[in-house]
Amino acid sequence: MTTQEEAAVTLSGVRIGPLQAGERVTLTDPKNRRHSVLLVEGGTFHTTKGGVSHDELIGGPEGVVVTSVGGTAYLALRPLLNEFTVTMPRQAAVVYPKDAAQILMACDIFPGARVVEAGAGSGALTCSLLRAVGPTGRVRSYERREEFAAQARRNVESFFGAAPPAWELTLGDLVESLQAETGPDAEPETDIDRVVLDMLAPWECVDALAERLVPGGVLLAYVATTTQLARTVETLRVHGGFTEPEASETLLRAWHAEGLAVRPRHDMVGHTGFLVSARRMAPGFRAPARKRRPAPGAYGEDYTGPRAATPEGGSARG
Ligand SMILES: C[S@@+](CC[C@H](N)C(=O)[O-])C[C@H]1O[C@@H](n2cnc3c(N)ncnc32)[C@H](O)[C@@H]1O
Repeated sequence: MTTQEEAAVTLSGVRIGPLQAGERVTLTDPKNRRHSVLLVEGGTFHTTKGGVSHDELIGGPEGVVVTSVGGTAYLALRPLLNEFTVTMPRQAAVVYPKDAAQILMACDIFPGARVVEAGAGSGALTCSLLRAVGPTGRVRSYERREEFAAQARRNVESFFGAAPPAWELTLGDLVESLQAETGPDAEPETDIDRVVLDMLAPWECVDALAERLVPGGVLLAYVATTTQLARTVETLRVHGGFTEPEASETLLRAWHAEGLAVRPRHDMVGHTGFLVSARRMAPGFRAPARKRRPAPGAYGEDYTGPRAATPEGGSARG
């Protein structure tokens, strides 16, 4: 690969041209089983139906069919980002492609955006964010567990060939790291366009992030449970410096289509997570009070979450 081609891969993670030693291909057998293979000169992919020589693939185009010694055909293609993120090595649960796609749109990630992400986990969402911000943007990922940060780095470097220049990975708790960056007495930086939180307790980060998000910026939390969803929504509401939070989930149903047998597939993933998002108001402003009344009992005596100072909104901190 020329230096120019390598630089292009580091921006997109997309390789074109002949397959090369050192890159991954996915071999798909007639039963649609997929095998991720790292190409090595002289290497062999061993199967119960005999081996497939890597040299048959190296130097040729992707999209070819190679046959094992035992006669089984394998389709060879480079993995797309959505395949890479669900097959890459992981220690922490990854954001699945259907949710990553929604996050990019709900959070409005754009080329040149300055994005903060926590936790980096296995680096799956990081890959999508880096692609979307491009070379003029910046993704700052925070991860408090060393082994997860190392895994995220390996995965991002594996996908892009090298760590993209737009990426900065910090080992540490998000709030503590942000505070350490500016110091307790310093004026808070207001240089974050978008925030994506995929962590156990995103509500703990709302105050610190609100100080650094640009007016109009988007904060999005991806959470697994309804209790996390509720606490995140109420915390954003009570903060007062955000628009009314929006919550959603995405269900993706694949279809089987063969002749007259056209029906939903049976193996749908029932649940992954919820998205909660809100936009930062300008300092000193709060969103107009909602006109609707809370449902009866919504904040009854059993409710123990964050409480707004007024029925409609919150104790605006701006
Ligand atoms: C579900 S994983 C994130 C997966 C990641 N989004 C991906 O797609 O690969 C959640 C991660 O958040 C990290 N985490 C939780 N709270 C954190 C905090 N306050 N600051 C930094 N990292 C945090 C955890 O260590 C864990 O690795």
